Amino acid sequence: MAASRSLDIFPVAAGLARMAHAKDGDTFDHGCRMKPVCGMLAVRLGIDAEDVEKVGVCAMLHDIGKSTLPDSILFKPGRLEAGEYRQVMEHTSSGHDLLRGLGHPWFDDAANAALSHHERFDGSGYPRGTAGLAIPLSARIIAVADVYDALRAERPYKRALSHEQAVTLILRGDDRTSPSHFDPDVLAAFEHGAPVIRQLYDGEAGAA
Ligand SMILES: [Fe+2]
Ligand SMILES: [Fe+2]
Repeated sequence: MAASRSLDIFPVAAGLARMAHAKDGDTFDHGCRMKPVCGMLAVRLGIDAEDVEKVGVCAMLHDIGKSTLPDSILFKPGRLEAGEYRQVMEHTSSGHDLLRGLGHPWFDDAANAALSHHERFDGSGYPRGTAGLAIPLSARIIAVADVYDALRAERPYKRALSHEQAVTLILRGDDRTSPSHFDPDVLAAFEHGAPVIRQLYDGEAGAA
């Protein structure tokens, strides 16, 4: 019975994401890319099949709070001013508010993942500075995949990194990211699953 409920819920989540991001195809596509990566990481972490599906729902919906941002910020081509960035940070709590209490427990988990996906394992994230295992597992998984996806993306103010560059940066850190930001178990799953992620992003040619 629980399995049939889980099978029903993903199309609902995908439809919700499509409507929320109707104007913002980039964020919808980002959620679509995150689903298989986060699902693969969840499988490698050994969680059961239904929870893997739930992580996929959380991944698809994690940035739904961005749909509440004004177009002037959402579609700004350059770097954000400090005040604009503070508004973007609120997509965590607004995503939580959009998803909670919809009547299916998976949406409550997705609400918590939306709230917590920018938290860091060492407590240096936002919005609450939650640390370690107090951060929901789905959010700890999304956090790693989210940074990878951002590094692979080209923006008007930055070039896209290659798969190898992105993986190396996440595992070693630089002035903006550190391995201490991530759950060590999720980071190990990311490192071991990196060839699969490469294939998901770059296809056969990239995997050669
Ligand atoms: Fe986000
Ligand atoms: Fe994201």
